[in-house]
Amino acid sequence: MKVAVLGYGTVGFGVVEMLKKAEGLEPGPVLVRPGKDDEPFKVTSMEAITEDPSVDVVAEVMGGVEPAFSYACAALKAGKHFVTSNKALVAAKGPELAKLAEENHVAFLFSAACGGGVPFLHNLSLAVQSDEILSVGGILNGTTNYMLDQMQSTGMSYADALSDAQKLGYAEADPTADVTGLDALRKIMLACAVAFEVLPVEGLLHEGIDSFSAADSSYIQSKGFACRLIASGGKAENGSVYAYVEPVLFDSSAAERSVLKNFNMAKYNGKNAGRIVMIGQGAGRWPTASAVLRDCSDICSGRRIMMKPSCKAGSADNSACVHRYLVRVPADVALPLPIKEKEAVGESCYLITDAVSVQAMHEAAKALRENGASVFFAAIGE
Ligand SMILES: NC(=O)c1ccc[n+]([C@@H]2O[C@H](COP(=O)([O-])OP(=O)(O)OC[C@H]3O[C@@H](n4cnc5c(N)ncnc54)[C@H](OP(=O)(O)O)[C@@H]3O)[C@@H](O)[C@H]2O)c1
Repeated sequence: MKVAVLGYGTVGFGVVEMLKKAEGLEPGPVLVRPGKDDEPFKVTSMEAITEDPSVDVVAEVMGGVEPAFSYACAALKAGKHFVTSNKALVAAKGPELAKLAEENHVAFLFSAACGGGVPFLHNLSLAVQSDEILSVGGILNGTTNYMLDQMQSTGMSYADALSDAQKLGYAEADPTADVTGLDALRKIMLACAVAFEVLPVEGLLHEGIDSFSAADSSYIQSKGFACRLIASGGKAENGSVYAYVEPVLFDSSAAERSVLKNFNMAKYNGKNAGRIVMIGQGAGRWPTASAVLRDCSDICSGRRIMMKPSCKAGSADNSACVHRYLVRVPADVALPLPIKEKEAVGESCYLITDAVSVQAMHEAAKALRENGASVFFAAIGE
């Protein structure tokens, strides 16, 4: 099968190189911006791909919602299978693309958009065929895992950990989506869409690591904890879907503590299979390109669906998800939640709440920050 590639950046270059060596696959034309077509295999118009009958698969690795969405529609309508590594595109337009793929009898796969090289969505979409999935989630952002690991293993400041991650190419020049938890949120949205046929687009909550300080790191370690950024999704007892991202504290018995550097740990819980955990490189040229190639090979084997065409955009309901939280607030600020323990450290106060809903915790932190207070919070892992 011939695979056209949209975008020739970090992942695009990796995809083209891997296609040259892959069994049953070969690279086709590569879409680049006008003026950058300095080699014969590069083209500058989407029509050159959609109108090329030798192209079987279009792999989009450009990023962004537009023009990626228009190009995806054009490819699917032209009868080309469509593969993407672009979580922003799938989080915004996944159900529309799944339907369009079905109407045109072609595949729409997006393994690389969640977990990089970790075959999370690949396995999850197979598992839903034979098992009821109860929950999905884990450490889905390698940049923040790297930063948290650096801060907790070396005592490094948040600013130095971020600059280190940028130097190593883990964090982008604008790291906002990573450090605020938005990137992990988009990934859990995709996992929910695959597992539960609902792409939650409303009611979502995300807290990142941008409030985590070196002082917080040393405090939680003195209590025997380590912090990881965790994305959680699942089916609540009332049938609604929950989806949120927040820092979580783990004691020394937790498997999450063994996930270091920029690694991901993706997991799902099947009613019959139980807990399945996958650890690996969540980003980077070669791991991500390998996931794109895996989707292309899956298409060769007849696989067509990752998100069911019946998947609909919907609302997340996080009101029934309940945790105890560790919260750091300024010493003179009251947290409007039930408190079990309190310890003053300099000008700050660390509090342990009773079990409260995720929604209540996120709303309380938001309200305090709107009044100018510096707040860090993390759920206490059970
Ligand atoms: N890098 C990773 O580790 C990783 C991991 C998982 C998923 N992803 C996803 O993979 C996608 C690509 O990431 P990346 O790291 O490879 O980004 P990148 O290095 O910035 O590469 C994107 C390439 O696409 C090109 N491009 C953008 N818009 C285009 C257009 N309209 N026409 C032609 N070319 C266009 C860019 O050209 P210009 O440079 O001229 O703008 C650039 O060469 C993103 O959706 C990202 O979220 C990346």
